Amino acid sequence: MPQMSVPAFVEKKKRGEKIAMLTAYDYTVAKLLEAAGVDGLLVGDSLGMVVQGRENTLPVTLDQMIYHAEMVSRGAPSSLVVVDLPFPAQFVGTEKLIANAARVLKESAAQAVKLESSAADAEAISALTAAGIPVMAHCGLHPQAVHQMGGYRVQRDEKQLLVDSLAMEKAGAFALVLECVPAAAATEVSRQLTIPTIGIGAGAGCDGQILVIQDLLGIPDGNVPKHVKAYAALGEQIVAVAEDYCTDVRNGNFPADEQSFE
Ligand code: KIV
Repeated sequence: MPQMSVPAFVEKKKRGEKIAMLTAYDYTVAKLLEAAGVDGLLVGDSLGMVVQGRENTLPVTLDQMIYHAEMVSRGAPSSLVVVDLPFPAQFVGTEKLIANAARVLKESAAQAVKLESSAADAEAISALTAAGIPVMAHCGLHPQAVHQMGGYRVQRDEKQLLVDSLAMEKAGAFALVLECVPAAAATEVSRQLTIPTIGIGAGAGCDGQILVIQDLLGIPDGNVPKHVKAYAALGEQIVAVAEDYCTDVRNGNFPADEQSFE
């Protein structure tokens, strides 16, 4: 499989090709998703919730992001691997922001970082881009602002969304995640931008889509958001398989002769 680069990713929009992204957090899953032909993998700070079992993404550290990003990059060497900059991301000052983002690229072999951002962060995006660090911006719902929002809510200020999105493109972002915004607003943003938009809870008018891998596989942890489509029920299957194993061990049916050495 040829290496997916940032320019090749952007080209997909120009060719009118939809972009399929998923999150990944480890080598094994990244390898499988690359074999499936995904266009890009996001090492999301959602790992704080779906891997670490935390309430939100805020406790995730840069070292943890790099740890997971390194495994994902090794599992998917031909994919575009994008890594979330964890809270408080760009609010550490430009010098530290560039140093943090550079650490991600140096230590993990990922190709880009993602930043929950708005028009107010245009300078931060420009600084990263000027340093040769590709940025995927992220507008609409910002999970890192969960306390400010008082929960995860659909973001309905369509005018602001357009202002933010246009500012991200102007600042140099190569792509833009749109999270939990009305479908019509995301369609309009996608029409006005030349860079690809990647939707999650943003309707079918985006240039691409992303889902959290646990959601795709049907491994829920509590409420399943409206925008999720589970393509399997692996959570239930894992429980059933582990139950079969426990029964076999307890009944003396595992290991059998086939699994034993002479
Ligand atoms: O952290 C994450 O997984 C994300 C996606 C939901 C876009 O930001």
